[in-house]
Amino acid sequence: MVRSSRKILLYLTVIALVLIGRQIIQKKSNQMIKVTKQPVVVIGSGLAGLTASNQLANSYKIPVILLDKAKSIGGNSIKASSGINGALSTTQESLKVKDSPELFLEDTVKSAKGKGVEPLMKKLTSDSRSAISWLQESFGLKLDKLAQLGGHSTARTHRSSTNIPPGYELVSTLSKALKKTSEENPDLVQILLNSKVIDVIINKSGQVEGVKYIDETGETQILQTSNVIFSTGGFGYSKDMLEKYNPDLVKLPTTNGEQTTGDGQNILEKLGAKMIDMSEIQVHPTGFIDNANRDSNWKFLAAEALRGLGGILLHPETGKRFVNELSTRDSVTAAIQNYCPKNDNRAIILMSESLYSNYKANVDFYMSKNLVFKGTVKEMVDHYNIKSPLDAVVQGLKHYSTASKDDFNRPLIVNSFGKDVNSNTIVYYGEITPVVHFTMGGAQIDEHSQVLNTANKPLAKGLYAAGEVSGGVHGANRLGGSSLLECVVYGRTAANSIASRY
Ligand SMILES: Cc1cc2nc3c(=O)[nH]c(=O)nc-3n(C[C@H](O)[C@H](O)[C@H](O)COP(=O)(O)OP(=O)(O)OC[C@H]3O[C@@H](n4cnc5c(N)ncnc54)[C@H](O)[C@@H]3O)c2cc1C
Ligand SMILES: *[C@@H]1O[C@H](CO)[C@@H](O)[C@H](O)[C@H]1NC(C)=O
Repeated sequence: MVRSSRKILLYLTVIALVLIGRQIIQKKSNQMIKVTKQPVVVIGSGLAGLTASNQLANSYKIPVILLDKAKSIGGNSIKASSGINGALSTTQESLKVKDSPELFLEDTVKSAKGKGVEPLMKKLTSDSRSAISWLQESFGLKLDKLAQLGGHSTARTHRSSTNIPPGYELVSTLSKALKKTSEENPDLVQILLNSKVIDVIINKSGQVEGVKYIDETGETQILQTSNVIFSTGGFGYSKDMLEKYNPDLVKLPTTNGEQTTGDGQNILEKLGAKMIDMSEIQVHPTGFIDNANRDSNWKFLAAEALRGLGGILLHPETGKRFVNELSTRDSVTAAIQNYCPKNDNRAIILMSESLYSNYKANVDFYMSKNLVFKGTVKEMVDHYNIKSPLDAVVQGLKHYSTASKDDFNRPLIVNSFGKDVNSNTIVYYGEITPVVHFTMGGAQIDEHSQVLNTANKPLAKGLYAAGEVSGGVHGANRLGGSSLLECVVYGRTAANSIASRY
């Protein structure tokens, strides 16, 4: 008797659980239907995706579902350390820096070396002023400081005097705005992390109908939508894609996060997109080698500013300089590859005490990560087991600090080691190696951010791309600061195009 009533109880419990379970599933699918009515699906939560989502939801009140396969927001955008370009910005005006979109275009076209799509470059540069003012006015970002990076004719790379690194500041500010909208109006913005997009469904009349993704539980889901924006970033971390497009670079480590695997490029290519400049891959000469994990495929970027502010590069065995450290990224890289030991492709970066005091917060950070060490010249020579006599290394530093003309025509010698440099002088040193940094190519877009097919026509109605996944904006070489800019210009453009047809 007792036994059978227990059994009944067990049955009832099971039935109740099944019913509750069903309700949960039903509720979940109701919710799905509700949000899948007509939202725009944005794939990737870097700066391009955050820009497009903010513009859609906050300017146009168009509902958005933002998907990212990673467990956190920000992609490579969050790592950006120099800043974002703009010509004729209010910051340039108030700092009395002369510039124009035409001059910016000229620099961009020159750097592109005949590759890419000039009308896309023209749009990038002429919309740069409004991109900067949008960030300043809609989000309260200061962007009140300027730097002049390699290949630019003037100072036009913006960052804020807050000292928060630019990529982090942009991503955290734009994602905060989006999350706020999502909290106030969950139907307007949904952010789904751990959600990996694997395909886009296009119907026979060439209209986007849906997006297929794998949700956080591993199940495949379909979101119905007529508009999708790819903002999935580059492919610098994918050895398969490097092997396919530029096999010489397969052995190099990268500054890109592990999510940077070109998913968007692969999906779009399969759908029939025109791929452009895929073999144009930017190698940055200075990624830090972490001695605790020398073979790691991922490297911390040694910011360009380290060289700009006076850092020099030394051959790791002779302790001698071998290049004008301020030449372009590709020539510094080539010098390391040609003059330094072939087996490990590395050089020493050496910095003075006066550089340290100028760039303290950054160098302190590198030191906290054991990427840069402080010691005397003698300790540095011992540390790296440099084969030249200590005195020769000291004489080399003295010559660099006092010669009237630089051996390598370095145009700017600042924060040198001083005329009194000796074996006991304090220096800062680390090891660097060239790293895969940015992929210029991608799915070609037009000036409305529409993805094009191989006949140069829009591949499908409702199919857009913005940011590093797209191609044609930089040609053979991207200028520093133009990648964040491309995210804002073409992310906004994609949103505007959708709004005009919505
Ligand atoms: C260390 C470093 C410093 C840099 N400094 C600067 C700088 O100062 N100025 C500048 O202009 N540029 C800089 N760059 C370049 C710039 O940061 C990036 O190229 C740019 O931010 C790319 O933005 P994005 O939005 O296109 O892609 P990302 O920011 O990389 O975002 C792409 C997102 O898409 C997601 N994703 C990918 N595939 C899928 C999928 N299948 N499903 C769902 N989600 C997916 C990823 O998880 C990621 O979050 C730097 C880059 C690095 C690595
Ligand atoms: C494709 O989708 C569009 C928009 O939803 C619709 O108007 C059209 O009839 C569809 N075409 C086909 C062949 O299903």
